[in-house]
Parts: sequence; structure tokens; C-alpha cells
Amino acid sequence: MKTKLCIFLVSLFFITACQQYEPTMNIDLSNNWHFSPDENNIGISEDWHTVNFDDSKWAIIDAGKNWEDQGYPNLDSFGWYRKFAEIPLAWKGEDIWIKFGGVNDTYELFVNGESVSSSLRANNSFATKASITKITNNIKYGEKNLIAVKVNDWGNSGGLWRLPVVITTEEKVGYITRKFAFEKKYLNLPVKNDAPSRLIHLLIDDKIVREFNINLALDEPDFWVYLEIDKFKGNKGVVQISELDSKNKEGIDGIYQDDTFPGEDEIYKEEHRPQFHFSSKRGWLNDPNGMIYYAGEYHLFYQHNPYGWPWGNMTWGHAISKDLVHWEELGDALHPDELGTIYSGSGVVDWKNTTGFQTGDEPPLITIYTNAGDENQWSREKPYTQSIAFSNDRGRTWTKYEGNPVQGHLNQGNRDPKVIWWEETNEWVIVLYLIDGRLAFFKSADLKRWELQSILPAFHECPELFQLPVDGNESNKKWILYGGAGDYFIGDFNGSKFTPESEENHYNYGDAFYASQTFNDIPKEDGRRIQIGWARVATPGMPFNQMMNFPVNLTLHTTKEGIRMFANPVREIEKLYKMEHSFNNVELIPGNNPISKIGGDLFDITAEFAIGNAAQIGFEIRGVPVVYNVKTKTISVKSKIAPCRPKDGKIKLRLLVDRTSIEIFINDGEYYMPMGSIPDDKNMSLKVFAKGGKAQIIKLDVNELNSAW
Ligand code: FRU
Repeated sequence: MKTKLCIFLVSLFFITACQQYEPTMNIDLSNNWHFSPDENNIGISEDWHTVNFDDSKWAIIDAGKNWEDQGYPNLDSFGWYRKFAEIPLAWKGEDIWIKFGGVNDTYELFVNGESVSSSLRANNSFATKASITKITNNIKYGEKNLIAVKVNDWGNSGGLWRLPVVITTEEKVGYITRKFAFEKKYLNLPVKNDAPSRLIHLLIDDKIVREFNINLALDEPDFWVYLEIDKFKGNKGVVQISELDSKNKEGIDGIYQDDTFPGEDEIYKEEHRPQFHFSSKRGWLNDPNGMIYYAGEYHLFYQHNPYGWPWGNMTWGHAISKDLVHWEELGDALHPDELGTIYSGSGVVDWKNTTGFQTGDEPPLITIYTNAGDENQWSREKPYTQSIAFSNDRGRTWTKYEGNPVQGHLNQGNRDPKVIWWEETNEWVIVLYLIDGRLAFFKSADLKRWELQSILPAFHECPELFQLPVDGNESNKKWILYGGAGDYFIGDFNGSKFTPESEENHYNYGDAFYASQTFNDIPKEDGRRIQIGWARVATPGMPFNQMMNFPVNLTLHTTKEGIRMFANPVREIEKLYKMEHSFNNVELIPGNNPISKIGGDLFDITAEFAIGNAAQIGFEIRGVPVVYNVKTKTISVKSKIAPCRPKDGKIKLRLLVDRTSIEIFINDGEYYMPMGSIPDDKNMSLKVFAKGGKAQIIKLDVNELNSAW
């Protein structure tokens, strides 16, 4: 009892009494910069500062708003940005600094019309390395000062306002800090999408253990995220938040630890939450990583931003499944470190303990990934390198190899190692993407030393390499090599060198597919080559963003065009079948809709049509048309078009329908068309139609699906 009381008092002490706020004098300039693309109007000549500004000619740039695809602010224009800042009289006598952080753009800074520094560059988009400029001599105290920026060149960051722009009396980066005695699972953090991004460090024993950026809400949050602190239980830690004034104490006090997080009860029930596709409980996801099957579990790792809606803070999330349909999140497996953030890579079971990492009776699981150096402040000025980590407990905990990186830098941006086992020589084969459209092939005996074998000009990002039988014939196998977009070569691989035997073939025709990977170590008895891609579907307004494609089985078939790779959903989808509606040999007359009585948002639909004399045949899924056009022999959905060649006057379509996507498989998987689709919430209708003439439904099965959650 006594000890409990003691622990309670100690924690109370740390949670309340020890909050520390370092006083800084800051002005946060993050919002409402005014922009003019018109040089004449702003005047870049000597007398620029005498120009009379006409506010109506300026577009307002709101920092942090309008986040685009990959999370960059929508600031894509060269030109002038300006803002007035009131500098308090009380600051007189102090030096004044202005800080721009986390950009890769070249810009020139003006204070009250004087250029105070030209060609500033904060070097790297995500390194959050602020450029700091002294402006003491140009400032008027107790008055409004005009701060203007001329953007000369965009790097790849897409904007100056990734981090707050701050005028401050502190030359170094200022922090507000708070101490915690960790005793719960989560440190809950409020997020507001359009709040400026703050850099947070978690320190334990004065060492950084986590570093991330977050659009920290200082008032009403859009949603909450959590930092997993389970593993720090019993430790005391300091949370440091950069460039935040102590007057924000109230907002910071909103950060708290608990065994649950706000919104946890609503998980998987959210309005736009995919019901049978994997999406992360919280935050952004992109590429699937480290896909391995071991001891009855499929492991899916993924590029994860645990702390926000846009891309960033690349971490490996981790989920497992016994059936490819029901997934359980295990929490993040690999966190950014001093070598960089954790970019894409692969996973293997080290059956022969080639790495020497095995401690128990079971083989270790190994992940091989890119350390994206200079993408966080922690890894400033380090290059991209390749590293490994291992687990001796079926993937529950991960240890990074102390000898990392295992493969040094080849060229900036080299990344996304895919590893496979090469049985003939008992070695690992690694394919690595080199930034300039080339792939490098390595061999390694232990994954710690890699030897370059060959380089092939091919593809962009996330390479994948595996073998498949042609038409199911095990004595006629071909190698497949593909890149991020899913374009692929069929060819030969001898362990060192890939020789293409085909043209570059197209595999994906949809708008929701990228950076796919296939599982390593699926048992021979199963023998499938199962792939999962990143379905690029944005889910605005949700506490999560993006999702994975439904797993597909890849096969090779001889077609009129040559050998081609086909994709079909894995049969495990049947586990979700709730109710089947079957139609056989039904005439499809223009204006008729035989499935008008079926409604919902989760379906697996299989159809075979005889084209007859129709001009169009198709479906309308909750108002979204999926149309076969007889004349062009194509399927069109929204702005995307895929080939669909009829056989004996017939076509086959399979549609997997979830709340935010429709995945279309054409003619037994010959063409694959995954599409993002977030229809009108109220529209739950289904329609099958023929236009311009009659068609015949040979067979139509509409399976209503249960949610996987
Ligand atoms: C592909 C990709 C990879 C990289 C990762 C970073 O989507 O750009 O090349 O490793 O995403 O998140």
C-alpha cells in the first residue's frame, strides 16, 4: 500500500509539478501569408519597398491547408509571399531571429524592403532543419514589420511552410518541455490538420528515443493520435515541442497518457473506413513492407505516419492476419532513428540462421529496409543507406542490428530493398532501386555484407522479383521483375542478372495501386504468389488516410499478346460472404435493372455477359458507372480505361466493392483495375445495365459481404 501511494505521489509529481516551460519570445507567422505571382505588382527592383500593396491582388496562402497527395502544401508557385509582423517594443535590446524550417526551396528574405539574405535553402524537405537569419538591424520595434519572401526555386518539399515560420529572440531552436512518468500504453496527442507542424522529441535519460513532426492542435482537435509508450513503462521521459511559446501551456496540457485513446471505441466504424481492406487505425499509410508468412501468420508491415493524416515520419506499422482478411495491428515495429526515417523494404524468414541472430528454437524474422538519411533532424546530412532488424518472437518485438547500415550509400535516394532466398547457392538475392531509374542486384551470404552483381535500367521504386509457372506448368517457369507502378518484365534470372524476355508490360489500369509487394515464405503446399498493393485512396475528414488493396493471387497465362500476369482476389474473401443473389441466363434489356432490390456498400460481384447487340454493358455501383464499351473493347471507370477483349462474344467482370474502393478484375484477372471510390453516403443502390441494344446475363452472382472488423 505504502509503495503504491509512493508511486502515485511520484507520478503526480512528475505529471504536474515538473512541467517545465522555457521562456522564449516568439511570434508564429505560420498563417495567412499573402502571395503575388506578379513580379511587376510587387516590384523586385531597387525601389520594391515603395510599391503600394493592393491586397485584392493577393491570394491568401494558408499554411498547412490544401495538403496534396503526398502531404505537401499546395504552394506550387514561384513568386512573393509576405506578411506583417508586429514586433513588441519590449523586445528592444534583444537580437531578433527569423526561422524557416523543413524546406528544400531556395528563397530570398526581405524585411521592410531590405534583402536580409539571399539564396537561403533549408536543405531538406523533411529534415526540419530550420534556416535561421538574424534580422535585428532591419526590425522596427513596436511597429508592424513587413516580412517578404521570394521563392526562387522549388526543391521537392513544395513549400516554405512545412514548419512554423517564427520570429524569435532565441537563436537556437526553442522548446517547450513537459515531463512524464510513463505508466500507460498511449501518450495521446491532439491533431489539427491545418495547424503548423511541430517537431517533437521524446527523451529518456537525456537520449532521444522518438522524433516526429505533428500538426499539433492547440485548440479543438480534428482527431487524436497516440505515441506508443507501452515499452517505456516505468521510465521517466521528457517531451520537447519545438518553437512553441510557453503561452501555449494549455494546449500542451492536453497531451496525456492513458490505456486508451480518444476515438478508440469508434475504430473501424468510421464513415469512410474500408471494411475488408487493411487501413491503419490512425494516421497515414503507403507502401506495404516486409511481407512474410510465418507459423500461420501473414505479416504486413507498412509505411506509416502514426502522428498525422499526410505522409511523413516514416515508420513501419505492423499488422498480422491468419487469413488475409482479418487483420490485427500489433503496433509500430520500426521507428525512425539517427540513421534516418524508415523507408520501404522487405522481410524474410532466416530459416538457416545465416544472420546468426537466432536465439531460441525458431528461425528469426528479418526485415531489410532503407534508412532515409536527412529526412529527419536526427539523421542530419546522412545519406540513404540500407539496414536490417530481427525478431526472435514471431515479429512481436524488433531489434535493429548494431552494425547498421549494412549497405552504404550508392546514390542519393537508393532505396526499397527486396530480398529473396536463392536456394542454388544458399544465398540471399537483393534488388535495390537506384534513384535514376536503375535497379541493382546484390548477393549476400548473411544479409550483412552485400555484393553488387549487376545493374539493370528498369522501373521506378519498390522493385519485386519472383518466379511463376506459365499456365500452371511447374516445368515451365518464368521470372517476373516489376517496379512501383506495377509495370513488369517477364524474363530469366540466374541469381545475379535479370534478362528481360518481354516488353515492359502493363499490369494495373486503375487509379488506386502502387508499390505492391508479394509475400515471401508462403509454404510450398499453398504455392500462391500473393500480392498486396498500396491503394492510393484519400479519406478526408477521417483520422486515418489511405488503405491497402485486397490481396490478389498472381498467375502467368499465355494470351494472344504473349505471356501475361493475371491477378485475382484470394479465395479467402469467401469468409465474408453474407448473402448470395444469383442470376442465370437473364436477358438484359435497356432500362431494366435485375438487381435493383439489392443495396449496400460491401460486395463481391462476379458476372459473365454475352454482348448481344448492346453498345454498352455495365454496373452502377452506388452511382459510380463501371462500363464496358463494345466498340472500343474497353472498361471505363471515372477517368480510367482498361482493355477488355471479349472471347466468343462474352466478357467477364469481377468487382470487389468496399466503402472507398471498387477493384475490377477483367476476364478472369487478365486486367486489374483498382479504383478509389467514395460515393454519396446515402446512395446504396446497385444497377446492372445494357445500353443501345440487348445483352444477356449468362451468370451473375452478387455476394453481400460482412465487415471484416
Ligand atoms: C514509394 C516510396 C518508396 C519509399 C517510400 C517512402 O511509394 O516513395 O520509394 O521507400 O515510398 O514512404
